[in-house]
Amino acid sequence: MPINRRQFLFIFSSIAFFRVPLIDAQSKYSATVAVLRRAHINEIQAHLNYLSYAEKAKLENYPGLAYFFYSFALAESVHARNFNRILSALGVQSWEPPKPVVKVFSSKVNLKSALEFEMLDIDRRYPQFVEEAKPEAHGGALENLNYAWDTEKQHRDLIQKMQSGTGIFFGVIASLSAVAIALIVAAFSKTEKEAFLWGNIIAIPIIFLSGIFFPLPEITLFNFGDTPFTIFDLQPTTHAHRAFLQVFLYGAGIGDLLYELTMLLAVTALYFGIGVILYRRFHLKMR
Ligand SMILES: [Fe+2]
Ligand SMILES: [Fe+2]
Repeated sequence: MPINRRQFLFIFSSIAFFRVPLIDAQSKYSATVAVLRRAHINEIQAHLNYLSYAEKAKLENYPGLAYFFYSFALAESVHARNFNRILSALGVQSWEPPKPVVKVFSSKVNLKSALEFEMLDIDRRYPQFVEEAKPEAHGGALENLNYAWDTEKQHRDLIQKMQSGTGIFFGVIASLSAVAIALIVAAFSKTEKEAFLWGNIIAIPIIFLSGIFFPLPEITLFNFGDTPFTIFDLQPTTHAHRAFLQVFLYGAGIGDLLYELTMLLAVTALYFGIGVILYRRFHLKMR
């Protein structure tokens, strides 16, 4: 249907009415728009990285790590959407960011890459984004840049926890408990061969019954407040295994594992005590 001159002028002026302020906003906030575009690309890259890392973790049978990466991917997509929303409000309508390239390695390397990415965000990219956007003082843009910057700091902390020495710390205590059990074995062994044999007879069941291979039945001996102490809790391997799971799959730190730490230390001390008494009583008398 052809439109007459009056209708044309009405449509034109309506478009102009809405477009002019947006074009004005774009030129007024040109540096902010440039920053938001870069931040948007950066967040899309982070989002796609984490999605791929999560898939890889799933393939490698690390469900906890996959969940961890999925939650990061979600956070990064929120950042990307926030930046895109402000860009739209500033009149950047046809914004098509370039498609990022995602490189995926083993989950261990992916964790390292994730940490490097977050560190760059925290130390280089976001400080620069904020510095460049600050002079134009666009409230929404600055607020969202700072919000994303803070979130990246939380991401860094969580990744560092995943990689932290907490696992090594528990590994050292678990090794001490192995030494304690070895003392008990040595108390009854006359030769190296005998010690090796008895060592295996003890080690295999306590690893097998630690919860690594299958969920353990709850044979409760007593309760520590709300936490049941089961017969399997007498083994150091049960506590070490639980702690390793929490550290490597859920990023737990020592503060989150005080119960397992206390139990592992207590059980280790108990076996050390028994080991020393038995060694003095039997092995030293055998000589
Ligand atoms: Fe982000
Ligand atoms: Fe992040």
